[in-house]
Amino acid sequence: MESPGSGLSAQVRVALGETGAIGATVRQLASRVDRPMDRVEAILDELRDRGEVLRIGRGLWVLRDYESLHEREDFADPGSYAERFREENGVVLGRWSGPVTFRSNESLPIHRWWPYVQGYSAEFVQDVLEAHGVGPGATVLDPFAGSGTTLVEARLARSRAWGTELLAPAALASRVKTFFELDPRRLERAAEAVLRRAAHRGPGALPFLRETRRQFSTAALEDLTRLRDSIDPEPTPIADALRLAFGRILIPSSRLHRSPCLGYDPRGRSEGPGPFERFRVAVGQMVEDLRALRREPRRLGPRASVEQRDARTADWPAESVDLAVTSPPYVNGMDYVMNYKVDLAWLGYARSYADLRALRRAEVACDNLPRTETHAYLSTQDLPDPWLEEILPRIRENVLRKGTYRRDDVHAVVHRYFADLVPVLSRVRRALRPGGRFVVVVGDSLLAGTYVPGDLLFARLGASLGLSIVSVEVARPRRSGQRRSFELRESVVTLERPRSAS
Ligand SMILES: C[S@@+](CC[C@H](N)C(=O)[O-])C[C@H]1O[C@@H](n2cnc3c(N)ncnc32)[C@H](O)[C@@H]1O
Repeated sequence: MESPGSGLSAQVRVALGETGAIGATVRQLASRVDRPMDRVEAILDELRDRGEVLRIGRGLWVLRDYESLHEREDFADPGSYAERFREENGVVLGRWSGPVTFRSNESLPIHRWWPYVQGYSAEFVQDVLEAHGVGPGATVLDPFAGSGTTLVEARLARSRAWGTELLAPAALASRVKTFFELDPRRLERAAEAVLRRAAHRGPGALPFLRETRRQFSTAALEDLTRLRDSIDPEPTPIADALRLAFGRILIPSSRLHRSPCLGYDPRGRSEGPGPFERFRVAVGQMVEDLRALRREPRRLGPRASVEQRDARTADWPAESVDLAVTSPPYVNGMDYVMNYKVDLAWLGYARSYADLRALRRAEVACDNLPRTETHAYLSTQDLPDPWLEEILPRIRENVLRKGTYRRDDVHAVVHRYFADLVPVLSRVRRALRPGGRFVVVVGDSLLAGTYVPGDLLFARLGASLGLSIVSVEVARPRRSGQRRSFELRESVVTLERPRSAS
């Protein structure tokens, strides 16, 4: 074993130093110093015992100098941005005082028909609607409607609910969950007919996804294709509800799980009910919830409108919305297309990998965006917010310094992310009535060793487009995937269309 002062040990330290705050994995270091991984790992262990290096998460190592990002001169931390936000925008970061805001919707009527891991809680939306006095006659908009949490609650409050959502399975969920007029008896009978037809037909064709046979047992594949092919392909409300129930049982019938990203477990789901039984239970819950809705003496408000489309080009009527509530994708966050590719393929919304790529290009930018889509955003000039003039070059420098990183255009992805939000904010502003508000749940990020205050930037973009910033309130802490010790946050940003604005 080489001592820490010896050749390889020194090389490992230099290589790690070059990766700065981002750090490097054993594999990356081994390739940089051109030695086997086990040798490099042994050196790292020894350097760690001497207090010179440490692991920060996701298999990443850094020099101890980079242990605390806060103390580094080249690191602008959350506190410094909060201070600048107060000085430049006149708003002090507050604390969200609502009830427990992120409880799962999995056991709630209607919401449980297709709960979204990425969604916020129904309770949070109820609280926001109530705080803003939204009730009968009001119009509520969610530009990134997801599984429809906002829209369902808006309808239950007897308001008009409008939503746009690009991801077809989520748009389907929003549409079905807000169609309270669906007849539970007809749904029950249609489900029984599907199960009868499915029991008598042979297995059908598998979707195009290459991993399908690995991800499902043969028996599950046969039953799932039978069920899928027994549902009426026409987009009638009953067939859509059955499709949603079918979509909901896909992951539970497979060796996959969402936590929150799609993961594979070779031993997963060898037991438990088969797809037919799962489908029966999923439809049973819908029937039960629809029956409960009918028993309530509540008068329903107007039917919801859910459009499957790109919110960046949506055309909501001017001055028509009282309250917009949403949670957009987060900077460099979830790749929705990757995470919902099974649903997209099985439900027939994507028929090829080219379809998945096209959808990813239209979603708000995420880390898996193809390079062809970031070309126009490589420049760090003419940015949507002056803070990005510091943030993007810092990300670029850190990545260049490290040499190897997942992609060398991370700063361009971040640039495009904020550029994608601008048209949505601008269209929501136009759609709001004077005095109408836009309430947004959004998080901050740590990317390539650089802090990105996504919540404050969202608020500032809104301000630059003529909305006033009412508040930015921290709702809960989040863990950074990049650095376990670094605390991120999720905030509630409230913007308002000024009453005097045109
Ligand atoms: C955080 S999720 C919203 C979750 C939602 N609040 C709920 O409770 O279900 C963000 C959503 O934005 C959608 N999205 C991303 N880019 C979009 C775009 N350009 N137009 C419309 N929707 C988009 C994603 O598909 C995803 O469903």
